[in-house]
Amino acid sequence: MLYRPLMSVRISRQTRHDFSKESLRHETSPRSGVDVLTAAGCEITQWDSDDRVPKQELIKNIAGKDGLFCLLTDRIDRKVLDAAGPQLKVIGTMSGGYDHIDTGECKKRGIPIGYTPDVLTNATAELTVALLLATSRRLKEGMNAVVDGKWGTWSPLWLCGQGLDGATVGVVGLGRIGLAVAKRLQPFGVKQFLYTGNSPKEGAKEIGANFVDFDTLVKESDFVLGCCALTDKNKGLFNADVFKKMKKTAIFINTSRGGLVVQEDLYDALKSGEILAAGLDVTTPEPLPTDSPLLGLENCVVIPHIGSANMKTRCAMSELTARNILAVFNGVPMPCPLLV
Ligand code: DGY
Repeated sequence: MLYRPLMSVRISRQTRHDFSKESLRHETSPRSGVDVLTAAGCEITQWDSDDRVPKQELIKNIAGKDGLFCLLTDRIDRKVLDAAGPQLKVIGTMSGGYDHIDTGECKKRGIPIGYTPDVLTNATAELTVALLLATSRRLKEGMNAVVDGKWGTWSPLWLCGQGLDGATVGVVGLGRIGLAVAKRLQPFGVKQFLYTGNSPKEGAKEIGANFVDFDTLVKESDFVLGCCALTDKNKGLFNADVFKKMKKTAIFINTSRGGLVVQEDLYDALKSGEILAAGLDVTTPEPLPTDSPLLGLENCVVIPHIGSANMKTRCAMSELTARNILAVFNGVPMPCPLLV
């Protein structure tokens, strides 16, 4: 079995459910998934580094393994599946997103996939709200001004941003995370929620959200949130045409996948004032090169794909990934299946 954890597992002090301050100070890697697999008697081969596993390394090591524990940074395509061989019984990805896996090819080969969407909902929703507020209230500019000695006399219009009170918030993809974000934004005084997607969602009633077509959402929203999974159909969904339709005061937030956005078009829209600001937790590529023009814009806040980055969540993701894998080995239903 090949196990590829998020980080090195050299550090071994943390027990599965120990999230105490003492342990957090000493640990950098979730042991929880490793513990579950080793306790079940799995033989584990792992990529022992924080860096992305090189494709050739993955291809070399996956040969003959029964299960694959992967991250969203591991592209699992036909080449990898071929290299694994026909005994590969299951793929567990420690992520809610699955655009890095060729699901069609797995389906053809009868390889089930487990993933971890629910356990990361709260953390990702929380981060989305943080990013939205940082962007709309211009925190990056404010913090830079303090450090750069540009904090002058208090002035009525300096660093004025956009508030949520009375705003229309449009959620593209009212799934688990989209709904959790909307619920957290409601107490800020949002006037109405719009959402779009493949079909109306039951959960929309909880926040009184209206199901509208994509065009209506981008035209009418003060805040446009990308919360949908990346698919072949919505790749580059947010392009020049769409940014043109948005309000000049619109704020665009993306915590889903960078592939939803045509980044050059976003840059132009931000630079020319077609939209007011953008907050991105996800980009193409990742990491975003430091010479990306987006980073030179004051009205663009970029953070490094940290939606689910809290210790408790990452431990839960690791453990759930292991349990998904073991379930298939044991012939029982996966706790969180993507493909069965
Ligand atoms: C995911 O799991 O897909 C997120 O992007 C990172 O937690």
